[in-house]
Amino acid sequence: MPRLLRFLLLLLFGLALVTGVGYVALTRTTHRWFESDLRARSLFVVTATNQMLARNWEQGREGLMEALEDITRDERVMGVAACSLDGQRLAATSAYPLDYGCRWVLARIEQEGAEANPWTTTEALPGGRVHLSAVTVAAEGKPLGRVLLVHDLSYLERREATTRNLLLVAFFVLSLGAATITMIAERLAFRVWTSELRRALSGEVTRDFKPLVGDVRELARRLASERDREARGGPWNPERLRSTLTTHLEGERVIILANREPYIHEKTPTGVRVQHPASGLVTALEPVMRACSGVWVAHGSGSADKETADARGHVKVPPGEESYSIRRVWLSEAEENGYYYGFSNEGLWPLCHVAHARPVFRAEDWEHYVRVNRKFADAVCEEVDSEDPIILVQDYHFALAPRMIRERLPRATILTFWHIPWPSAERIGICPWREEIISGLLGSSIVGFHTREHCNNFIDAVDTFMESRIDREANAIVQGARRSLVRPYPISIEWPVHWLEELPSVPDCRASVRKELGLSADALLGVGIDRLDYTKGIEERLQAVDELLSRHPEFRDRFTFVQLAAPSRTKIARYRELNDRVEALADEINARWGKGDYRPIILLRAHHEPPTVFRYYRAAELCYVSSLHDGMNLVAKEFVAARDDELGVLVLSQFTGAARDLTEALIVNPYDLGQAGDAMAAALRMSEAEQRERMSSMRRMVSEFNVYRWAGRMLVDAAELRRRERVSGRLSAPAVLARAIGS
Ligand code: G6P
Repeated sequence: MPRLLRFLLLLLFGLALVTGVGYVALTRTTHRWFESDLRARSLFVVTATNQMLARNWEQGREGLMEALEDITRDERVMGVAACSLDGQRLAATSAYPLDYGCRWVLARIEQEGAEANPWTTTEALPGGRVHLSAVTVAAEGKPLGRVLLVHDLSYLERREATTRNLLLVAFFVLSLGAATITMIAERLAFRVWTSELRRALSGEVTRDFKPLVGDVRELARRLASERDREARGGPWNPERLRSTLTTHLEGERVIILANREPYIHEKTPTGVRVQHPASGLVTALEPVMRACSGVWVAHGSGSADKETADARGHVKVPPGEESYSIRRVWLSEAEENGYYYGFSNEGLWPLCHVAHARPVFRAEDWEHYVRVNRKFADAVCEEVDSEDPIILVQDYHFALAPRMIRERLPRATILTFWHIPWPSAERIGICPWREEIISGLLGSSIVGFHTREHCNNFIDAVDTFMESRIDREANAIVQGARRSLVRPYPISIEWPVHWLEELPSVPDCRASVRKELGLSADALLGVGIDRLDYTKGIEERLQAVDELLSRHPEFRDRFTFVQLAAPSRTKIARYRELNDRVEALADEINARWGKGDYRPIILLRAHHEPPTVFRYYRAAELCYVSSLHDGMNLVAKEFVAARDDELGVLVLSQFTGAARDLTEALIVNPYDLGQAGDAMAAALRMSEAEQRERMSSMRRMVSEFNVYRWAGRMLVDAAELRRRERVSGRLSAPAVLARAIGS
């Protein structure tokens, strides 16, 4: 039932109740008043005529009639009778009702043992109610008999009816008034609400660090539909992912193709060390691989990688657990320069991120990119052990590999996930090899992106640059006999994070981190964790700290922001320049606000292993993720996972995919330095109760929408696609089979 209608019904019910109770109370009171009035009047008239009555009492009817007629002159007196002490009727006026004879009245008085003078009662006659009183007539103090007076009460009933009608009218008028006022108030509230909504949609509300309404709506829709679907299968964890593989894909091994390997062996003066690279892709996929087993095909980039792998480049990982293998592919320096630094990171990376860096496209880089994609595609085909394997191709390093693999393994299920944003078709059009890139990706069974917006951009690019049919209803691209689905799969992290198992408590982390940074135990701490990349908005982040200290003086000398920055892609000039700029900026801000030992910014430029990173997350009052453009950003989700104390505030750029999932973060525009500074101040002032409310809600979100669900949903979609393709008979077509066997 609509809210307004419910409210109106309640209001009317309340009014009716008040009117009813009022009516009963009013009639009872007026009754009492009238009765005592009639009683007084009866006594008065009989007392006034007492002398005359007493004088003529002995003469009976002749003597008494005149006096009785006198009394009935009062228009409300229906009739009067005179009774002797033993109940004889001495005289009565003509209209005196026979029902109330002298004997009957005296019997009633005796029965009630009433002494009162007058004795009164109210009785019902067929024509209406009457009031009967018996007043004693006396001479020289001795009672002679009684005079009975019958008053007509019909006028009282008339008055009651008038009162009832008046109350009914009042009830209707009040109800109408209340309903009108409610509707007007509701209308006004609706207007205020719609103008708020309009304001929110136009983006004005982000000044208050609110999430975009569209994101909340999309999130609510997703949560509702997912919850229904998922409720049946229980929470997503490694076991459920494994059983999904068994049930839907007959327990096949999964082959991952990704440029970055999850374990890098590096030579150090003290021997070989295993490094976990700073990469969102690795953070997400490594737990999936541990759950599923299989092979991860990657570039062997560590200085001790060759010596720790076998002759074909295989190494069992994770160290000590050895649940899956890495197949390392070796690249020459020229190949790495052209494919990785050149085309991938100077071309595609700035092309896809709106971070104001110009993409550079060199023909020789492209040639390397094509050759290296083929090299990796071949390595994948060497690793498969069936004609229709499941292959997960990762990211912008391998846009061409899906088609290359498809040519050799037509029955393979190829899921390609693009971990970075996919920009507008206009922007993609800048790339001289845009058709080849899109066509390469369309070799996949499913192409996945973090958000629906990126999916739509991809479909637009296909529409603009390719010959194909777009099935908009199914979000699929049809080329000849092949279909590629385009789907959003927002990536996440493992839950619970295994690194947390070995970590000290939050108070211990707070104490140890403050100690190693040379801060007092009660210092306020902010943290930023990134690769040193221009898309992460690290300069804007430090400038926002500067704003915080200039606009909110109470945090000077108390607040320190520690930035853990892992050097990245340092062969590229733009990354080296960024490194220098960030260092200069930190020095400048420290010179402005530093005093004695106090420095507001601590820059730790080095690779930090996950246990250190998680210790810092747990030690901080706030974490600021300020990406200028980011497909998802898993640092935001890791911070949430690290805070099992449910405290700490996440300040999050609106230009990350994560801002769509973590709507309880303080959402900011990282370019608006004042807003970001204010958000950090709000975070530092936030009550523990509010921190808990926000953090627990985000923790629920990340725990439910974890990386096992991400992988599980992709695999289930892939299995469905395989089933449909089998049913349609395309997979068993002789030509296709012959091609597969021939390869
Ligand atoms: C982003 C990319 C990943 C990449 C990571 C680290 O998250 O999407 O593919 O692995 O950055 O970059 P790197 O170049 O060091 O692998």
